[in-house]
Amino acid sequence: MTCKLFSNARIYTPRDRGRPAAGSAQGLLAHFNPGVLLVENGQIVAIGQADEMAGIITSRQVDQEIDCNGRCLIPGFVDPHTHMCFAATREAEFEMRLAGVPYLTILKRGGGILASVRAVAQASETALFENTRRHALAALRSGTTTLEIKSGYGLSTENELKMLRVIGQVGRRLPLDVVPTFLGAHAVPETFKGRSEAFVEKVIQEMLPAVAAQGIARFCDVFCEEGVFSVDQGRRILTAAKGLGMGIKLHADEVNDLGGAALAAELSAICADHLLAASDANIARLAAAGVVANLLPATAYSLRRPYARARSMIAAGLPVALASDCNPGSSYTESMPFVIGLAVLQMELTPAEALTAATLNAAHALGLAHRVGSLAPGKQADFLLLEGDSPAILAYHAGVSPVTAVYKCGENVFSL
Ligand code: NIG
Ligand code: FE
Repeated sequence: MTCKLFSNARIYTPRDRGRPAAGSAQGLLAHFNPGVLLVENGQIVAIGQADEMAGIITSRQVDQEIDCNGRCLIPGFVDPHTHMCFAATREAEFEMRLAGVPYLTILKRGGGILASVRAVAQASETALFENTRRHALAALRSGTTTLEIKSGYGLSTENELKMLRVIGQVGRRLPLDVVPTFLGAHAVPETFKGRSEAFVEKVIQEMLPAVAAQGIARFCDVFCEEGVFSVDQGRRILTAAKGLGMGIKLHADEVNDLGGAALAAELSAICADHLLAASDANIARLAAAGVVANLLPATAYSLRRPYARARSMIAAGLPVALASDCNPGSSYTESMPFVIGLAVLQMELTPAEALTAATLNAAHALGLAHRVGSLAPGKQADFLLLEGDSPAILAYHAGVSPVTAVYKCGENVFSL
């Protein structure tokens, strides 16, 4: 049993009320300065204002005291939407997009997601692991301590399982909580061109049962989009996944308003992701159904599209989470500080709202808020030290990570 005392910190954390922070609560942080954090066996046992904590501290046998030298201490970031298990980057496609070719047109021509599918099919499991590990490490160094990673560049039972094994391995080999999501319905593979119905049947009859039998995915996701999978196909796949005991979420209204957000509300998905094109009516539906809006501003940035209407969502009482969407096509970044910067400067979240979105609400989007996402007794001691006076530094110091140290379960796993 080791007991560590982190002292002399400016602590900022969302307050955990047992549900996602919505409306005005999203912008409310607890603040302790000078604050202390007491950690025993990787768990937080006490947190608060230094002078009020003196009694608790003297009642414990502290093995090590770490002076934070007045630095900001915040919860580790939870990144609840990534596709960082891939084998190769797609620079040529990036240049095509810069020249004006739309993202979905590239996919229609057999590029985009399908280019990544070919690369994953050719890569050995070891090479795929090495690549994924590098991206996860980059995320960890930018402050991510819990990470969702999707499959979806396999699109065959064999290669989807290969991806999910690699994703599981990353979680076991790095000091990160990794949440694996099955995204077999990410695109219609070339072998099923023009036969999306037959592919949907294969996902439901063959892929989902194989994934569920191995217990290697916590969630099932579907890319509902024009020319990809319809809302009806999404409904059937996600309903089957639910029946197999998996959690469900979806890529909803990323490019076009197809009704993906309405489907997320109808099925009580844990979150609905992207929502760039979501209508007011569907925002209201999500709020009423208790679905978290998982926003990915680095995708809007990279696709040069209008950002999701985060202010309208917060005004409608819809809890907003943030994620990187890290993938080789629409959002090539592992950096949650960059995502927070975009959320603040482009979607007009306050720094406090953005911090809540990237921690507590993101943890709810993964069903992990009982363990991570805020600093409170009983939770895992996953936290960061930052340069600067307040979490506003995350948006203010543009393009550079202000994270100077990362602690996972009370252990220092990165420091500058
Ligand atoms: O979230 N939209 C579908 N999936 C990813 C992009 C994947 C890719 O282009 O490789 C997204 O934007
Ligand atoms: Fe995505």
